[in-house]
Amino acid sequence: AGCYGKDLGGQFPPGFKFGAGTSSYQVEGAWNVSDKGVNILDKFVHDHPTSIKDLSNGDVACDSYHNWERDVEMAAELGLDYYRFSLSWSRILPTGFPNKISKDGVKYYNKLINGLQAKGIEAMVTIYHWDLPLPLQELGGWTNPLIADWFEDYARVVYTQFGDRVKLWLTVNEPISFCDGSYNTGVGAPGVLSPDVGAYICNKHVLLAHAKAWRLYDKEFRPKFNGRVSLANNLLWIEPYSEEYTDLAELALQNSAGRYSHPIFSEAGGWPPGVEEVIAKVCLEKGYPRSTFPSFSKEEIELVKGTYDYYGMNHYTSRLIREAHPDEKLLPWPYGDAPDLKAKMTVSDKWPATVVPWFYVNPKGIRKQLAWLKQQYGDLEIMITENGFPTYHGLNDTARIDYYKKNLKQILLSINKDGVNVTHYTAWSLMDNFEWADGYTTKFGLYEVDFNDPKRTRTPRESAIYYASVIKNRSLDIPSNTTKPKQKQK
Ligand code: NOJ
Repeated sequence: AGCYGKDLGGQFPPGFKFGAGTSSYQVEGAWNVSDKGVNILDKFVHDHPTSIKDLSNGDVACDSYHNWERDVEMAAELGLDYYRFSLSWSRILPTGFPNKISKDGVKYYNKLINGLQAKGIEAMVTIYHWDLPLPLQELGGWTNPLIADWFEDYARVVYTQFGDRVKLWLTVNEPISFCDGSYNTGVGAPGVLSPDVGAYICNKHVLLAHAKAWRLYDKEFRPKFNGRVSLANNLLWIEPYSEEYTDLAELALQNSAGRYSHPIFSEAGGWPPGVEEVIAKVCLEKGYPRSTFPSFSKEEIELVKGTYDYYGMNHYTSRLIREAHPDEKLLPWPYGDAPDLKAKMTVSDKWPATVVPWFYVNPKGIRKQLAWLKQQYGDLEIMITENGFPTYHGLNDTARIDYYKKNLKQILLSINKDGVNVTHYTAWSLMDNFEWADGYTTKFGLYEVDFNDPKRTRTPRESAIYYASVIKNRSLDIPSNTTKPKQKQK
């Protein structure tokens, strides 16, 4: 049965794995317990409370530091093959450096990893999801070239501590968000506005940091632990507003997806074609004596090239792009427009809006994005490391179910019709959490979290029941009665 045609079927290939994700700052809370150091998110939310919609912060969040057993239980209720979470750098290394390793910090992650393992759930671990230790920020953070070595040192600690049990690693999550998103707007940690300079420097250093951490694993840890390492890129699918903008849309993809992919995944390595030239031109026009977009040396190109075991893709939404009119106001990249390309980003009126302004629904975008990756970088193994949908509170989340269903259907088409090797799908998020500048106002959770309850009680939404049945059946063709709301929690 099912509505996808007999030839296709709603069945996922054998070995396909389903997960759900969270990140340390968004769920852990316990911002100052034991010897945890302060990070740039702790500082940003305390210094700029009005930058967060509901004036909230992640001091307590879902209190997963204390509620990790419930988190593991939820992962088991869903039947997840793996749980994606991130490590808090300053919880493990209070100074940011490996001169001191926090026993309590390591213990927390051991409890979580072992708890998952006891239920047969793998851990997919993100080493960095935006919570940089403050002492490193005070030395320039991602704009200091030494960050690549500091990150490698930190990676060595976590591979050593957890590598015997963790086989899937992501070095960094969404460089486009913590480089371009932060420095181009100044709204978000570390709260530094440096649109023409900071974001570009960060871009380069993230790639070097990732590469060093990958090479370290490859050389010292792979032989004994045999795991796999990549990074998670946020890919915004971009289409031309009309045919005349086809080349512009391709350049925009190179300047977004390509900026963090070409150096690692292409055969040639280095920045993607066309991008350095375009940015150099804009810099000169703005009065800089030379390009502020840093180039790679030959050695750096070689260092970064090939540092992957799979492609990690976060995907949510799509844009249309067109040339800007002269004097048209352009909002900062990547959640506004594309000023580097003198281009305006819009959306199709066929794409339904959601509760957040950056998110319009275009399920076909994910299939096109996957095909683009294959066409650009060859027949890679692709793991979808995030995909999910925002709502306001409420357990009856049919719009979220619809989003998952339609995206999963497109992924099946991608696998079966386009021959793309997608092997993992990660729903974002396991539970509602601190959604950055939106605070707790918008919810991405399969489980609803009651943030007024000191216990932070978690309750499954209808989408949790739906996702659990997809996982159980390994198929989109699931009996219709399984999506009825059902309280799993006492
Ligand atoms: C991507 C980020 O990695 C995650 O932290 C965030 O919550 C989701 N997108 C939703 O905005």
